[in-house]
Amino acid sequence: MKKLVAANWKMYKNRTEAAQCVLDLIPLLKHIPADREVALFAPFTVLGSCSDVINSKGADNRLFLGGQDVYPASEGAFTGEISPEMLADCGCRFVLTGHSERRHVLGESSEFVGRKTAFALEKGLDVVLCIGETLEQREAGQLESVLAEQIGGGTADVPAGIEAARLSFAYEPVWAIGTGKVAGESEILEAHLLVRRLIEKKFGAKASEMRILYGGSVKPDNAGKIIGLDNVDGLLVGGASLQAESFSKIALA
Ligand code: 13P
Repeated sequence: MKKLVAANWKMYKNRTEAAQCVLDLIPLLKHIPADREVALFAPFTVLGSCSDVINSKGADNRLFLGGQDVYPASEGAFTGEISPEMLADCGCRFVLTGHSERRHVLGESSEFVGRKTAFALEKGLDVVLCIGETLEQREAGQLESVLAEQIGGGTADVPAGIEAARLSFAYEPVWAIGTGKVAGESEILEAHLLVRRLIEKKFGAKASEMRILYGGSVKPDNAGKIIGLDNVDGLLVGGASLQAESFSKIALA
């Protein structure tokens, strides 16, 4: 299984800034090991600019694009929404579903996240399904039940026969996102093992081939240690992915 190091730019960068960042990133990723993939989850408005740079530099097998969200329909009267086909048309291979900011700021349910996940997979995008507990849930001893609900709902309509490499999970404890408070080694090990067990329930032996990424205050100085932990198959990086140099250090860590 190839490890996946992914940047989530959230709601940052205009087209010029995004294109420049990709331009800076491509040479820095030249020596990415063959067993690693790099993805960039960019705002919808800059996907075309990023795709143009990637194609013009011939970096399309080294750096993959992804959307940060998707709507579970191909087209229709869904004002403000984006379909999987539209993302693919902008050069995307990947999409994120269920990011904590969509669950907690925009109120998305696991059922809705599940519909997005299944539809995006059906239409050919590879999905990174995000899960993770809030501090209150962790302190109330609900880690396992929260992850079980998010994984259960998020994969409810995904066929058990799905190709394992096309569905990844990103464990992002909400209390570690953008706080500088990275989860400890034992917390990451415990949560990732739990995720592995939960996806085994649905996908059986294939679950061992599905990637589980860690996200939450990943920086160049902690990335190497985290990506080396058992059951950590990649990283999803917010703040530290906005500069090409810091993100490339993480990708190569
Ligand atoms: P930070 O790396 O800024 O904590 O964000 C993590 C995240 O939400 C990535 O999806």
